[in-house]
Amino acid sequence: MRGKDFSVEQAAGTLESLYEKYRGEKGAVIPLLQDVQEEFGYLPEEAVNWIADRLEVPRSFFFGVATFYAQFHLAPRGKNIITACSGTACHVKGSERIINFIKRDLGLTDKQETTEDMGFTLEKVNCVGVCSISPVVIINKKVHGKAAPAKILKEIKLLKKKK
Ligand code: FES
Repeated sequence: MRGKDFSVEQAAGTLESLYEKYRGEKGAVIPLLQDVQEEFGYLPEEAVNWIADRLEVPRSFFFGVATFYAQFHLAPRGKNIITACSGTACHVKGSERIINFIKRDLGLTDKQETTEDMGFTLEKVNCVGVCSISPVVIINKKVHGKAAPAKILKEIKLLKKKK
């Protein structure tokens, strides 16, 4: 069950099996959160609360970890993930321009990361570690170096067609 419509009732079976897997392992917070995210595509607040309560670990502890690590997402994410690097090297090579093109193409406002139809999430990150090929855009884990707006928009167009 992924996307916007998370409900504890519908996810009961999955939550129960995650609880069984981590029962007695109160220290395994990160792997547990990774599993929850793998199941639902993000960390639904109700799911984290449910598991924290069952494991008798304070909810705030889980949320502290979830908000500390960039790998965790507390809001639903789109089917396709576009990660645009806006670190210094990429910025110098025009990453903002590319990001603006992508936003416009997807109809995203400045405060919005995910499209209404949940098709795409655009996230900005600081340096993905391959500055020599900046500017860098990662689309569904595929790295596009020396990214040009036209090429990136073409990739997005192809993904839109796959819907
Ligand atoms: S700044 Fe973009 S890869 Fe380093």
